[in-house]
Amino acid sequence: MAKPNDGGYPRAAVLGAVLVVMIAALGGVLAPPRARAQSDVDISKIFWCKDGENGGQTADQCAEVRDLILQNCTACHTFVPIVKAQKTEQEWDATLGPHRSRLPDLSDDDYAKIRAYLVPHFNLQHPKPELPPELEKLGTGLPS
Ligand code: HEC
Repeated sequence: MAKPNDGGYPRAAVLGAVLVVMIAALGGVLAPPRARAQSDVDISKIFWCKDGENGGQTADQCAEVRDLILQNCTACHTFVPIVKAQKTEQEWDATLGPHRSRLPDLSDDDYAKIRAYLVPHFNLQHPKPELPPELEKLGTGLPS
């Protein structure tokens, strides 16, 4: 005659396994939604182009420079310190001079186009663009 417990799993182990599964399932339901990785940034408002205010650049050139900046100037820091800057021409040169060697693959022509965009756009005549809170929180995000 077999004992009552033979062949079956010990009751405590079964209960334990059920509990583990339930807790795992609950955890899945209660876990906070993953923070949204993307923010709703309207890049054409931040890097704006307005006819007659682009420092002599056409609308097409202006849009092209926007891409140049986004592709080349965000490798080491975000675009925040760039768009929050309100610099005079001399101040831009003080930033761009030491930066030149940081962008060895960029042609002189493209570098000049970037300068020609930055000077008439990010200066004291234009208010700093409002950024989504998550970007404002980052601050300038400059490497230390
Ligand atoms: C190879 C890395 C690197 C790249 C690429 C780079 N930066 Fe920077 N940037 C830095 C570092 C490091 C600092 C911190 C201050 C410093 O050392 O100049 C900085 C600081 C800045 C600042 C804030 C300080 C200031 O002088 O006002 C601005 C504005 C800026 N960068 C603009 C640009 C622009 C525009 C480009 C593209 C043409 C660019 N950066 C590309 C590394 C880089």
